[in-house]
Amino acid sequence: MPQVTVNDSTIHYIEQGQGKPVMLIHGFPLDGRIWAQVVAPLAARYRVIVPDLHGFGQSRASRPSSMESMVEDLRGLGRQLGALPCAAAGLSMGGYVLLQWAKTCPTDLGALILVDTKPDADTSEAKHARDVMIEQARTGGAPAIADAMMPKMLAPEALSHDQALVRRLREIIESQSPQAIQWALAAMRDRDDFTPELPAIADPTLLVYGEHDAITPPAIGQRVAEAIPRSQLKVIPAAGHMAPMEKPQEVAEAILEFLDACY
Ligand code: MLT
Repeated sequence: MPQVTVNDSTIHYIEQGQGKPVMLIHGFPLDGRIWAQVVAPLAARYRVIVPDLHGFGQSRASRPSSMESMVEDLRGLGRQLGALPCAAAGLSMGGYVLLQWAKTCPTDLGALILVDTKPDADTSEAKHARDVMIEQARTGGAPAIADAMMPKMLAPEALSHDQALVRRLREIIESQSPQAIQWALAAMRDRDDFTPELPAIADPTLLVYGEHDAITPPAIGQRVAEAIPRSQLKVIPAAGHMAPMEKPQEVAEAILEFLDACY
């Protein structure tokens, strides 16, 4: 099982392909498996590295996390694999981590792919909702979080008709450690507002948004595209918040076209 030890945590990852490195960072409350169908097409031309963040998937952790500590985990992984600088894609919470990374150490990154995410900090209502969810995770574990999240994660069509995808997503959520879920919720609640940093992002940036994303709609992507100088927006038709699972082919094609042109 490929893994590295960084800051007392064990970070599990998978690696496939050869060429310039591309790291794929998953969202909440998930793990690297959400990229499963995107990896093979990307790995035909790039060295693809897919970590499980702090305590998620097969990674193990014994302390709380923050956006900064998750960046340090990924930088440690990248250093140990000789894979920096890299291009990186981050879905939702993975996008928050990537924006933190771009702020902390931009020279590690050669191109950014922000997928179904947003730059803003939590509002006070959102912070309160995080605390409620932390309590739900503590008392009801990962299944309670799956119940709360599932209705918002997929496009309506997939949610009602693609039972295999619904089952797969629920299975990934339900397999997560309730402790990792609570730590990630607190880390998201306490994250910075990255909006002021967007104009300073000098790397080419691709914004990928599911047309029917109910959590981070494409209008957010439009706003981010206007703020990041070398950016472009790609809306994935018929996809929701989990575009890499719902429309992996289209997402992989968008990423490849972007990377081939600028990385
Ligand atoms: C995610 O998909 O990572 C989460 O929905 C992000 C969030 O809750 O802010």
